Amino acid sequence: MAKKILVIDDETLNLKMAEHILKNNYDVICAKSGAEGLKLLQQSEPDLVLLDLDMPHMSGLEVLERIRSDAAVADVKVVILTAQNTKTRSMELIKLGALDFISKPFIPTELLERVRKVLPAPERDRILVVDDDRMNLVIARDLLESQYDVTCVLSGEEALEYLREDTPSMILLDLHMPGMSGLEVLEKLQTIDRLKSIPVIFLTADTQKQTEVEIFRAGAMDYIQKPFTAEVVLHRVGRILELYHYQQSLQQEVDKKTAELVESNRRITNLSTQTMMALASAIDAKDKYTNGHSLRVASYSRELARRMNKSPEEVNNIYYIGLMHDIGKIGIPNEIITKPGKLTEEEFAIIRSHPAIGSEILKNISEMPDISIGARWHHERYDGKGYPDGLRGEEISEIARIISVADAYDAMTSRRSYRDMLPQSVVKTEIEKGKGTQFDPVIADCMIEMIEEDRDYQMHE
Ligand SMILES: [Fe+2]
Repeated sequence: MAKKILVIDDETLNLKMAEHILKNNYDVICAKSGAEGLKLLQQSEPDLVLLDLDMPHMSGLEVLERIRSDAAVADVKVVILTAQNTKTRSMELIKLGALDFISKPFIPTELLERVRKVLPAPERDRILVVDDDRMNLVIARDLLESQYDVTCVLSGEEALEYLREDTPSMILLDLHMPGMSGLEVLEKLQTIDRLKSIPVIFLTADTQKQTEVEIFRAGAMDYIQKPFTAEVVLHRVGRILELYHYQQSLQQEVDKKTAELVESNRRITNLSTQTMMALASAIDAKDKYTNGHSLRVASYSRELARRMNKSPEEVNNIYYIGLMHDIGKIGIPNEIITKPGKLTEEEFAIIRSHPAIGSEILKNISEMPDISIGARWHHERYDGKGYPDGLRGEEISEIARIISVADAYDAMTSRRSYRDMLPQSVVKTEIEKGKGTQFDPVIADCMIEMIEEDRDYQMHE
């Protein structure tokens, strides 16, 4: 039900204008004096009062004072209409709860806009009617105006011009027009994303079956036979708009749910990343000389994968696998990891058990079954002389072959208790030497390419 506005003004012209401007969106009641206004206020319980300030007998200020002192109507919203608006008066009026001041004479759009702010009206559907016959436009407007905002244009070209700025809820489109035909207009609409879902109903005097087929093939929602029968027009327009809004709200719901899902996915992914990074830091913290090692190996591995043209998903995956490659070190006693001197045979065997321990730790992460690959095989060698399984060449997972190169690179470009990081030229030579023995030659070449591009030797601990 439309909301009610009571306009109180001693000038009939003002009342008429206000009524004309507001009647499409609200029920408007008019009063020609303060006394009549107060009476109508009791009877009709409006949602808003538009109150003229300067009236004979009883001024707007007095009316407002009476409204506020009458418990039955005291909380009604009031907006003041005024030609002269002095400061003292407005302070008094504001104290009495006047929500806004609108100057006379009204500018129609402004009046409607200001009233809408105070009293939001349910949005009316806007319908564009396109017909080259003026009479049909008049009839259509008459029929629809009480329920919808109607815009009429006389040609397809004008319709497209109007649609550049506005997106109505529906288009009633004449089929046969000089210039662009209705079908041509519809075809054009369907190429524009913003407009293609607006329901179109054709208006036609044509009764041929073939026309009907063409209309539906072109994507129209329905057609209305001319001359119009009022009931048919209102019924079809109403039914199709209802469907259109239902579809739109469904789409909005889907969009909302999708956005929520995307957000919750983003948070879960962030949580996983942060958890793995925390774990990687815990591994690296066991030895000050390996501080940041896991993060760097993960980054270098990701860059190698990118250069090997792996898919974005694989590139992303290898970062996580790289982060976790040394997790088995958690199971190795600190005194062995940080021992400054030479390791005994037995200690060395314990160190060499970290890949097996690592893959054991990670094997139950079923959501990322590949996560243990790096942990288990990053110490395998291309020539088969590595550990723990002595795999060779392509028997070793490519992911592990990549991480192995990144791991060796970081070991050489980090400080150790017994040496500083190696010069870049030495690192490059070592990678070259390892091609086909320690490293997969293709991946080693990628690493060499990265070293060569790193002119200032930025890529180190
Ligand atoms: Fe390792």
